[in-house]
Amino acid sequence: MSSRQALSSWKKLQQLAVEKKSQHMNSFFAEDSERFNKFSIELPKLLLDYSKNLIDVETMSTLFDLAKETEVTQWREKMFSGEKINKTENRAVLHTALRRPNDEPLFVDGENVTAHVQAQLANMDIFVNKVRQGKWLGYSGKRITDIVNIGVGGSNLGPQMVTEALKHYSDNSVNVHYVSNVDGAQIVEILRPLNPEKVLFIVSSKTFTTTETMTNAKTAINWLTSSSFDQKSVAKHFVAVTANKENAMSFGIVEDNIFDMWDWVGGRFSLWSAIGLPIALDLGFDQFKALLKGAHEMDQHFINAPIEENMPMIMALLSVWNTTFLGARSQAILPYDQTLHMLSAYLQQAEMESNGKSVTWDGDEVEYATVPSIWGELGINGQHAFYQYLHQSNNVVPADFIGSVESVTPVKGHHETLMSNFFAQTQALMTGVNEEQVRADLKAKGRTQKYIDTVAPHKVHKGNRPTNTILLKRIDPTTLGNLIALYENKIFVQGIILQICSFDQWGVELGKGLAASIQKELESDVLSENHDCSTENLIRFYKKSSEG
Ligand code: F6P
Repeated sequence: MSSRQALSSWKKLQQLAVEKKSQHMNSFFAEDSERFNKFSIELPKLLLDYSKNLIDVETMSTLFDLAKETEVTQWREKMFSGEKINKTENRAVLHTALRRPNDEPLFVDGENVTAHVQAQLANMDIFVNKVRQGKWLGYSGKRITDIVNIGVGGSNLGPQMVTEALKHYSDNSVNVHYVSNVDGAQIVEILRPLNPEKVLFIVSSKTFTTTETMTNAKTAINWLTSSSFDQKSVAKHFVAVTANKENAMSFGIVEDNIFDMWDWVGGRFSLWSAIGLPIALDLGFDQFKALLKGAHEMDQHFINAPIEENMPMIMALLSVWNTTFLGARSQAILPYDQTLHMLSAYLQQAEMESNGKSVTWDGDEVEYATVPSIWGELGINGQHAFYQYLHQSNNVVPADFIGSVESVTPVKGHHETLMSNFFAQTQALMTGVNEEQVRADLKAKGRTQKYIDTVAPHKVHKGNRPTNTILLKRIDPTTLGNLIALYENKIFVQGIILQICSFDQWGVELGKGLAASIQKELESDVLSENHDCSTENLIRFYKKSSEG
């Protein structure tokens, strides 16, 4: 048995889960008119209501005990102070240092991280202003109008999600585009309308080895040089962000155009570093700093608030409660704000690449469910697609509903319609409607008994589906920083409680290695003998079919 399962809070939570599964949230609300006040937290720009979960005071206090018994606060201190908590890669985890406004030194391996961060921010500031003010010129002397960020995973999702979310704050000094897929269809379509004389590429790759990114970057260089007929033009049109300067330089990026990354920043937590350049280029450096400020505010809350009033802690504990103890296997992220249309894709990587593992940090098999699969879509689109499943399937999917009090683009009547759905859905998911109510309603509508008997069972909604509601004042750089850092810190806490090493990603290596050898087979006549017969025949079919 792992040490987690031996904890007294763990054992008590197992008992409570059995008890709570036979109860309905409706009765919790009926018995306690203070439930919202007890189970919600308000920060200056953000409200979390977690009262619509299958919890009561005893459950929450046992979850808080779990956080204490698993020493979450001590681990938090280790992370923020630069201890090497990424055990399997022997690295510190310091993305939080990227948004620390103060210049207090912070040392990792004798290097002052703060000094690196401040120097990098200063470089970014200069570069961003140069480009946005038209002082960075392309090979033919024209100003840059379009930025194309080439990167994938953490070198794409964070910056693109934020760019989309903060579109409203862009002054359109430049247009920002993202290429992540190695499917040529994407880069071809993005480059088609652009003029190579006016495009600046950012090749974003922490490792500078990622095949997809390197392939896209080569295509981009060819596209540029087939217009400029001069390899030297690369210096005016390509910058890189990487922790592997050597590789970037041998790829052809000039040293002065390389922005640093560090091994203490995980790819999926890197949007606060120079990986965030496209955001800063689009919005201006001050707005980028406001984003950092928002994230830092949430870090401060995470560090200083007692566990019982700590948003990231509570969200992590609820995720563990719903998944590990109550048995939910997935979680939906449902933003009711168009600007957040990429949030669930972003959180998929953040949470699933971090905690989607099945051995503990000591290498033992985990004997309990860890992280749920994360999926989602904008709430309104989801309502007309998969909410049927959320309301009536026999699989309970806890969901985070995220909305804003004010719209950044108010259009008469729209926001009220949007938000009435937002509030209605969490109520409906929680209360449901029983057969008696359904029958009474149909009868009141004058339906025949035969119709009522046929339809009533289909109209029953059991309810009791857990949701969190996060209400932001308004999407802006600071509140978005709050929101992202809330989830980042939540993911960290989940990892500690579940004994998962949240900051490596060994699970992506096997497929990567195989793809590299299969690519050689696709380009030659020889087929490896190491494939299973399914894979072998699929490759044979592909090769034969592509010969025409
Ligand atoms: O393959 C997964 C991954 O390693 C992610 O963790 C990372 O964000 C992404 O690939 C991109 O990696 P890089 O920035 O090194 O190109």
